[in-house]
Order: sequence, then C-alpha cells, then structure tokens
Amino acid sequence: MMAPPVVSVVGTGLQYPPHKLGPEFVPKLVSNCYTDNVALLKIIEINERTKIENRYSVLPSNHPLWFQDHILTNTECDDLFKKYGIPLAQDAATQAIEDWGGNLMDITHVVAMTCTSASSPGFDCTLSRRLGLSKHVRRTLLSGVTCAGSVAALRTAYDLLRGATQEGKPARALVIAAETMTVYVRGWLETIVKESIPNIGPTLFGDGACALVLSNGIGVKEGEREPIWNIHGAQSTLLDRPGCVGIRWMPSGVMPIISKDVPRMIKSALPSSFGNLITNSPSLRLEESNFNPSTYDWALHPGGAAILTGAEHALGLASHDHLRMSYKCYRSAGNTSSATVLSILHRLARAYREGLSGRSKVIGAAFGADITVEMIVLTKPSCELVH
Ligand SMILES: CC(C)(COP(=O)(O)OP(=O)(O)OC[C@H]1O[C@@H](n2cnc3c(N)ncnc32)[C@H](O)[C@@H]1OP(=O)(O)O)[C@@H](O)C(=O)NCCC(=O)NCCS
Repeated sequence: MMAPPVVSVVGTGLQYPPHKLGPEFVPKLVSNCYTDNVALLKIIEINERTKIENRYSVLPSNHPLWFQDHILTNTECDDLFKKYGIPLAQDAATQAIEDWGGNLMDITHVVAMTCTSASSPGFDCTLSRRLGLSKHVRRTLLSGVTCAGSVAALRTAYDLLRGATQEGKPARALVIAAETMTVYVRGWLETIVKESIPNIGPTLFGDGACALVLSNGIGVKEGEREPIWNIHGAQSTLLDRPGCVGIRWMPSGVMPIISKDVPRMIKSALPSSFGNLITNSPSLRLEESNFNPSTYDWALHPGGAAILTGAEHALGLASHDHLRMSYKCYRSAGNTSSATVLSILHRLARAYREGLSGRSKVIGAAFGADITVEMIVLTKPSCELVH
C-alpha cells in the first residue's frame, strides 16, 4: 500500500541580532530615565525573577534611542523593523533555504508573521523580492495572532501544501517569523509610568527571526534535503476567556496585553488541547502511547517561566528532558514572540543532526491572542506509526 502524502519540514534557519541585553538592562534604563515609580519598581522586581539570562536586540544596550527624552512613535518603530527586522528575516530565510537545498524558484508559498510591524506592504513583499522568489509566489501575512503566530504560520502552510497535494502539484513553503519588539521597550516603560500599571513586556521580549521550509513531497529534485519531520496534524483552539492576550496600538507603539491569569489558563487548557490534537491526527490516534505527553519532545512557547512550569505540571513533563530546548531558548533569548517555537524546532533539528538524543515525536505549542492555543504534531520519518 502506498504511504499517504505528507507535508514535511525540510529546512530550518535562525538569526538573532548581534546585541545582547542582560538582566541589568531594564534597571539601568529605568534608573537613567525615571525617578522612583511604584509600577516601575514592580517591573524591576519581576525582571529579576524571569530566569532569562540574555535577550537579543537590534540596538546595543547603550544606544542613544533608549535614553533620549523623545519616545519613538509607531512610525519610527516600524522604520526600525524595516531597517533591522527585514534583514534578520532575510538571513534566517536564506539559512533555511540553503539547509533545504532546493531551487528558490520552486518555492510556491510564503507564510509570514510578525507582531512588531503592521504596515502595508507587509515584510513578506520586501522579503520575497530580496530573496529573489518567483513573482507568482503565493504570500500570506498573518496578523493579530501574537505569540501563537509561529505555530499558526506552520498550520497555515501545512493546510496550503495539503491543498496543493490534492491537486497533485509540487509545493514548497517558506514559513518566516521576524520580531524586533525591543524597539518598543522604552515606550512600554513610559506607558507603565503614565498609567501606573505594571506590564511585564519590558522584562520578557527579545528580537530574532526564524524560518522553516516545508515540502509536500511531490516532484522532489536532486539536492533537496530528506524530511527532518513529517507533520501529522495541527489544531487551533480559541479559549472561552476573551481579552487576556493581545496588543494595544498606542501612539508610542504596540503595548502587549498579558493578563496575570494567562499561565493558569494555559495550564488548564493544555491537556485537552493535546488530547484533541492526537484524536484528530489519523496517523497517531490508534496507538495509545501517542496520547501520553511524555512520549514527545516539546517545542512549547516559553511566554514566561510560569508557562513552562505550568506545562510541566499539567502534562507530566520534565524541564531537563521534554522541555529542555524550550528552557534553553527561553534562558538564552527570552520570548521572541512569533519566532519562538520555530526557533525551538530549529534548535531541536540541529541537535538531532549533531547526534544528540531526542525523541521521534515533537509537539509544537504556542499561545496568543485572546487566548488561542495553537498546536502541531511532527514525527521523524523513521518513526513507526500505526495507521
Ligand atoms: C513574569 C514572570 C516570569 C514572573 O515570575 P514570578 O515573579 O515568579 O511570577 P509571580 O506569579 O510570582 O508574580 C510576581 C509578581 O508579578 C506580577 N505579575 C505576574 N504576571 C503579571 C502580568 N501578566 N502582568 C502584571 N503583573 C504580573 C504578580 O502580580 C506579582 O506581583 P505581586 O507580588 O505584587 O503580587 C511569570 O509571572 C510568568 O512567566 N508569567 C507569564 C507570562 C505570560 O503570560 N506570557 C505570555 C504568554 S503568551
């Protein structure tokens, strides 16, 4: 019997900007720009407890833009995304395409995602042109999905490629997420002072871009990489508690909305979301062990340390084992919003290639707007499944 057609991950790339922000960055910025403020003192206290050791930024920690009186406007922040974020996206995409080894002209779809910029034309246009993709490439730019964007973008590409498979056409998708959220940090501090309400955004977010190439396996040419993972199913769940995660558009840039309830809500939603994902994945649901979360490696969005510990408890996962790459990514780069889960998958793919042990099955899970839980399940091609 012929194997059913699959959509596979065939290339990955990750690019962080060159500048590092350590835990001392936020207190330094606050003490240089503001006098005592209760909400900011709370931010400094939270900043000490995030367990993030480093974040990356497109701006060095001593850049004058951080310390000047003028707070950057939306337009200025957007210009910084274009100046720094699109080249980051280009570097990540170039790495993923080289990793895949195929021909640029064979890329049929681009699915792009950013929370940093909302301008039109979107960065998918500039990026496609700079990479030299076909002018007929089918572009999709996701908006309003926030940190769930990396898995939402993968899910969208997966559906588009399965559509091409139905038509018997070869299809290759570039999935790309790019973020330069740190350009908003000073504006966030200003809003915290004005509203006297702590917001954890300045303590968590970092910059980065990550790309994956997906293939539907039709018309494979010489030079194209063998699949790293096959995708078996994807799922999006909108929880019944609106308004907990989002972005407020302010004159001084975007302001993250992250309610204190988020870790608790994600923790309680994870077991059923995971169960539904496996139940709805025909190639996995007949084998009982596939319903056991601890049989997977987890690329789980580290929105904050509390999200990771909540997942450990809810799903019976170990920080040093199933979630090791999610923790590593969080400690070394913070929350890079829509690029985060893609970057964990990239790191897992490279680790497997370097011969480090890892499981055959992986779950990607991200959380975003309103709250939405996005999940995807992948397996190594060698993984034996019960159909
Ligand atoms: C931010 C974080 C790392 C801080 O860790 P922590 O200090 O161990 O967390 P705690 O829950 O003990 O909270 C510490 C303080 O931060 C405050 N805080 C926590 N989450 C907050 C939020 N979302 N907004 C504002 N304040 C918050 C708490 O109220 C508490 O203040 P209090 O002492 O005055 O009550 C942790 O709360 C976290 O990971 N939160 C989840 C982040 C999140 O939802 N990310 C987005 C997912 S898409």
